[in-house]
Amino acid sequence: MKKYFIYTYGCQMNVHETEKLAGILQDRGLQLASQVEDADVVIFNTCCIRESAEQKILGNIGAIKPIKKKKKDLIVAVCGCMAQQKDMAGNLRKKFPFIDIVFGANNIEFFGDYLDTYLNQKKFLNKVIEDEQYIENEQGISMVRDNPFYAYVNIMYGCNNFCTYCIVPYVRGREKSRNPEEIYKEVKTLLEMGYKVITLLGQNVNSYGLDGNTNGVNFAKLLDTIANFDGDFELRFMTSHPKDISDEVIEVMAKNEKISKTLHLPVQSGSNRVLKAMNRNYTREHYLNTIEKIRKAMPNITLSTDIIVGFPGETDEEYQETVDLIKTVRYHNAFIFMYSKRKGTIAEKMDNQIPINIKRERIHNLLKIQHEISEELFHEMIGTTQRALIDFGNKNEGYIAKAQCGKVIKLITDKQIKLGSFVNVEIIDYKKGNLIGRIK
Ligand code: SAH
Ligand code: SF4
Ligand code: F3S
Repeated sequence: MKKYFIYTYGCQMNVHETEKLAGILQDRGLQLASQVEDADVVIFNTCCIRESAEQKILGNIGAIKPIKKKKKDLIVAVCGCMAQQKDMAGNLRKKFPFIDIVFGANNIEFFGDYLDTYLNQKKFLNKVIEDEQYIENEQGISMVRDNPFYAYVNIMYGCNNFCTYCIVPYVRGREKSRNPEEIYKEVKTLLEMGYKVITLLGQNVNSYGLDGNTNGVNFAKLLDTIANFDGDFELRFMTSHPKDISDEVIEVMAKNEKISKTLHLPVQSGSNRVLKAMNRNYTREHYLNTIEKIRKAMPNITLSTDIIVGFPGETDEEYQETVDLIKTVRYHNAFIFMYSKRKGTIAEKMDNQIPINIKRERIHNLLKIQHEISEELFHEMIGTTQRALIDFGNKNEGYIAKAQCGKVIKLITDKQIKLGSFVNVEIIDYKKGNLIGRIK
């Protein structure tokens, strides 16, 4: 039996697209290889959000060369956001002549056809579609989901925001919302199959429906409808843009028990000048006000964020405003990145690019501050009760549960437990980055 191996880089969107690629391949009778050396088809599902991501991918593609040398029939495909960039397909092929198929970020569902064409012609295939309106829908695609309890569901594709640092709108095209009925059907099927945590995916879920494709269903309505489905499950979503999260969404989150009390709300910077230069369309004050509203409605919510340090022109004072903001909000978790120049974006051409040593200093300092805040917040959880999903382990080695924010809870129990059950856990300790808990 033929085998496949898929390298996945980047965000949840890509992780989910790999599940679609795996579905296409398994439908054709291929099986997952345990190591790349055993594969007959290798796919690189790529990301280009930062230069570091691209460098790593190029290194990994290069490492396939000796394998292809030994195994002439090996099919090597590269797809996803990095491949979608202008002229990239040709450049990749030039650099790595052993690549057989390149396709983009918005036509993953056609990989089966591309494979057929390649097998017929045995000739390099460039299937990147450079039309930014072009996004294919996933109707009828089977998926091989990575995990038995957690499932991703796309509710929209693309992004219209054009934050000045970001390449996503260029490679993922314009926003396109999926039909709500299709989404409901998919979620219901997943719940019947026993999935326990459903995460709705979009680059900016709050603009769901704004493209007029959803018969008037907006994000709040979509959430509310799904949260009222029968069954023991939790509903999450990402990502929310702070400029768009509405009072209605906050209200729906607060009133529905099945919606996890956790929210990722990327702030990017604490400085109004930098936010404006980033084209984020909100101010520090608006952001903090939103956080206040969210906490008022859901006092125990756990918050996380994304931050970029060293955006062009960021002064020490402006950086300090970000430091001040994370100290004010106190996130459970923050993903902190050094600004990375992306080709074709507006920020690429800005003056005052910040030297790498300053970016390093800033990220190092901010990570340290955030680490202290996270540690304090997780210590403060001792004595509280958290709803969690037991998703790993066995009676002999012990069980692991995940809190709604994703934090690992090591369970103390001598009972046999069924994986995939929700439990209320009393947190009794916090050690080495893990919560320790007892089932109540
Ligand atoms: N759509 C989501 C996030 C997409 S990318 C949102 O708007 O929040 C994930 C994160 O990568 C972003 O939130 C940002 O913090 C970071 N990022 C994007 N482009 C970047 C760049 N050029 N350099 C460094 N970090 C970047
Ligand atoms: Fe990028 Fe901004 Fe769109 Fe997020 S909202 S994907 S950061 S352009
Ligand atoms: Fe990367 Fe594309 Fe996601 S650039 S972060 S894989 S949308």
